[in-house]
Amino acid sequence: MRIVLGVTGGIAAYKTPELVRRLQDAGAEVRVIVTEAGAHFVSPLSLAVVSNHGVVTDQWKDTGHGGVDHIELARWAEILLIAPATANIIAKLAYGIADDQLSTYALAHRGPVVVAPAMNTQMLLHPTVGENLRKLQARGVDVIEPDAGLLACGDEGAGRMPDPPVLIERVRSHFGARDLEGLNLLVTAGPTREAIDPVRYISNRSSGKMGYAIAEAARRRGAKVTLVSGPTMLTVPAGVTLQQVTTATEMRDAVLSAAPTQQIVIKAAAVADFAPVTVAETKIKKSTDGGGLTLELKRNPDILAELSQLTPHPFIVAFAAETNDVTENAREKLRRKGADLIVANDVSNRSIGFDAENNEALVLGKDGSETRIPFSSKRAVAERILDLVGARLKTKT
Ligand code: CTP
Repeated sequence: MRIVLGVTGGIAAYKTPELVRRLQDAGAEVRVIVTEAGAHFVSPLSLAVVSNHGVVTDQWKDTGHGGVDHIELARWAEILLIAPATANIIAKLAYGIADDQLSTYALAHRGPVVVAPAMNTQMLLHPTVGENLRKLQARGVDVIEPDAGLLACGDEGAGRMPDPPVLIERVRSHFGARDLEGLNLLVTAGPTREAIDPVRYISNRSSGKMGYAIAEAARRRGAKVTLVSGPTMLTVPAGVTLQQVTTATEMRDAVLSAAPTQQIVIKAAAVADFAPVTVAETKIKKSTDGGGLTLELKRNPDILAELSQLTPHPFIVAFAAETNDVTENAREKLRRKGADLIVANDVSNRSIGFDAENNEALVLGKDGSETRIPFSSKRAVAERILDLVGARLKTKT
């Protein structure tokens, strides 16, 4: 791995000599660009010593990278990691401003860009910063979610730069296998919503994070990805085709009509099992006698069961959200629904499952296999699930 590390002016810059060392331990060669503000927080000399190379600190000074620094470096580099990334560099990247060594380099750089924003919570929450980050994500920049905790300014909240192992795992994920090249993969994500009246609905606590992480990882591994998503607050990964749906019936129609052209379908969505029999045309009013309200519900279509009835059908990965007897329930669901793999989660554990950043799963195969995926980020879990899918498709061909 040949990495250009961009260091900007945040307090977390003091961690970057350690980051360089850890990247080297992971087999990377690192060249560093430090902005003027960054150099107030970390000594360019320390970074030069640990990286064993001159550090670019000034656009107009020759640091021995040969020719024009930013062009030579761009020819050399495979990936650009900016950590910590201030609101300033994020804005420059979003608008293509090139007024210092790092922002100029970023325009010359070809290949993946990973950005680790680190700043005060209020700055991070500023609409402009959010807008710029979304702009970068839409362009394919990999934005690492900042950690929450006590910040250097004394405030508490999101804005800390994650520790080196998290950054390294993200950089590494860009060098993974392209084992899904040429395959069409459909992933469902998020909840569905079943209307009760014009203002109310039945839904569930799914955030969509697991499905979106799978979509992003599959795209990076070369698949042509269609994401059929219920309502979520998430940014659609770059290069992924989004099909937005609301109800279980809409999700069923989207999945079944796309299925014949898909080699893999991953059903991470939490589909509502029931929907109101009738949807009131106007808002349901409270009765004046203080009584309650009884809703009559009907079963929604079971998308997975219908999908597995198709002949031939794609390779199917189901999810099982369970609160008890996880292995037995998931094994039974795998059989009943006709999936090839089932990813079982214990959703009674709040640190994993619905809306959490992390996950932990047991993957059961039709072939009787059992693979435990240890507690890790949903991105890492997504990669492990795709490892299992890739390995099984390879043995099929
Ligand atoms: N699923 C589906 N259509 C439904 C319900 C679920 O396709 N109407 C899919 C989900 O996307 C998931 C798998 O089936 O991949 C299992 O979902 P889960 O909610 O755990 O199972 P259910 O079949 O709803 O069973 P139960 O609620 O009885 O546990």
